Amino acid sequence: GSTRYYEFKVQTMKITKLCKTNKIVTINQMLPGPVVYAQEDDRVIVKVINETPHNATIHWHGVRQILSCWSDGPSYITQCPIQSGQTFTYEFSLVKQKGTLMWHAHFSWLRATVYGAIVIYPKPGVPYPFKLPYEEHILILGEYWMRDVLKLEQGVIAGGGVPPPADAFTINGHPGPNYNCSNNDVYKIDVVPGKTYLLRLISATLNTESFFTIANHKITIVEADGEYTKPFTTDRVMLGPGQTLNVLVTANQHMGRYSMAMGPYISAKNVSFQNISSLAYFNYLGALPNSVAVEANLPRFNDNLAATTVMDGLKSLNSGDVPKEIDADLFFTIGLNVEKCQSNNPKKNCQGNNGGVMAASINNISFTRPNVSVLQAYYSKIKGLFTEDFPGVPLKFYDFVNGAPNTAPNNTQSLNGTRTKVLEFGTRVQLILQDTGTVTTENHPIHLHGYSFYVVGYGSGNYDPQLSNFNLVDPPYMNTIGVPVGGWAAIRFVADNPGVWFMHCHLELHLTWGLSTVFIVKNGKGPLETLPHPPADLPRC
Ligand code: C2O
Repeated sequence: GSTRYYEFKVQTMKITKLCKTNKIVTINQMLPGPVVYAQEDDRVIVKVINETPHNATIHWHGVRQILSCWSDGPSYITQCPIQSGQTFTYEFSLVKQKGTLMWHAHFSWLRATVYGAIVIYPKPGVPYPFKLPYEEHILILGEYWMRDVLKLEQGVIAGGGVPPPADAFTINGHPGPNYNCSNNDVYKIDVVPGKTYLLRLISATLNTESFFTIANHKITIVEADGEYTKPFTTDRVMLGPGQTLNVLVTANQHMGRYSMAMGPYISAKNVSFQNISSLAYFNYLGALPNSVAVEANLPRFNDNLAATTVMDGLKSLNSGDVPKEIDADLFFTIGLNVEKCQSNNPKKNCQGNNGGVMAASINNISFTRPNVSVLQAYYSKIKGLFTEDFPGVPLKFYDFVNGAPNTAPNNTQSLNGTRTKVLEFGTRVQLILQDTGTVTTENHPIHLHGYSFYVVGYGSGNYDPQLSNFNLVDPPYMNTIGVPVGGWAAIRFVADNPGVWFMHCHLELHLTWGLSTVFIVKNGKGPLETLPHPPADLPRC
């Protein structure tokens, strides 16, 4: 492959949206940020220069970072943040990777405006496994705040409870005509009647998941999270933040203008939400200018049935190398809970039920980030920054799984800690993710860094090994899985990439509350299976 060089300047930019001028953080003064284009197996080098007064890092979401864990990007996990005025160069190879992925900031809530697409074309001479589309377009779904998102996160940590919803949903940064002052702040694709388009859908939302649909047009999914799928045709899709879908859409309707709509999927119970959507246009060339757009039919924000449409239909195009046998059988409960408000608690807000602290946890461990990166601590054998005792089965397994997951256990306390789960090189892992919750159950988009995994099964209610029928033939190969609300998902992967890998809920609020953990994958025996040395310009804390 060849080498692609990019320069990312993290900069503050003034932007006027929703009738108000506001300062946001961007890359190169763009919202969305620049597209990283490459081909399968290429090397990518991105020099990131932080010209803002804040910290920043960039994560290459879905890039497996084979033997390049220092370039992964999550702050305090694989690196210290790039401080104001400093530079860090990310370098990685796109080994056997193709399709659409994304990059985003991985410090505080900066990714609200610091995000963009990664487009990886097949190698020269290798065709797509579908008819070559006439054209392709990138559509990034987002949430836009008029407030400083760093302050929003600080507010959550310091006592603000649940933050306000976004001021607007956006498609490629544009809210569209459902919002104030936004009649002209709308994205549009001009299409030639009869032609087929490849849309690269990316969800970059912060605190909600998203539905997307196009009025009167069928959507055919051909790739998910950068892996080809058997073509699957549907009316609408749901994407959790971090997820990507390549879809084909044919302009086979009457001449006209059609709405493409994006709206939230919010699965938590008892939430009321105005069903407002971001609109863009799928505009037939030759249609009367300013003709009234045909309305898109978006599911309601709490439509749990509509939310599983995509997963119900996703199968890998080819049967991959799904691990048939497993060495490690892990069971993680994920969910929101309330902790007692104690003065030594790092999360000091006491606005949860009964004067408690809102928290989120995996196996009852609410993750706290150290102030040096876990990778640095592991590599340099610095003591006291993390432990290796993450519980493989939940401490209070029976509390959670007796009865429905919605049944509150007696003991709702989670523990705080930087506890990691260590895996020997080559371990074939099966991980059951079970949604629980003493506050509410909710669909959690769980993302694993450094790997894609096969989603071999999922279902509602409590996981029951007796009743589950796994797909070991052609399961989708993904990097983020929306664990169904009150349900479970089963994933499998082989731990063959040494490093320190974050796994977390991609809803930023839940990440702030502690819904994350870290896998440490040890070295293998071969010369190419060792942890790489840190780059010379690695930021210091
Ligand atoms: Cu796209 Cu750790 O995130």
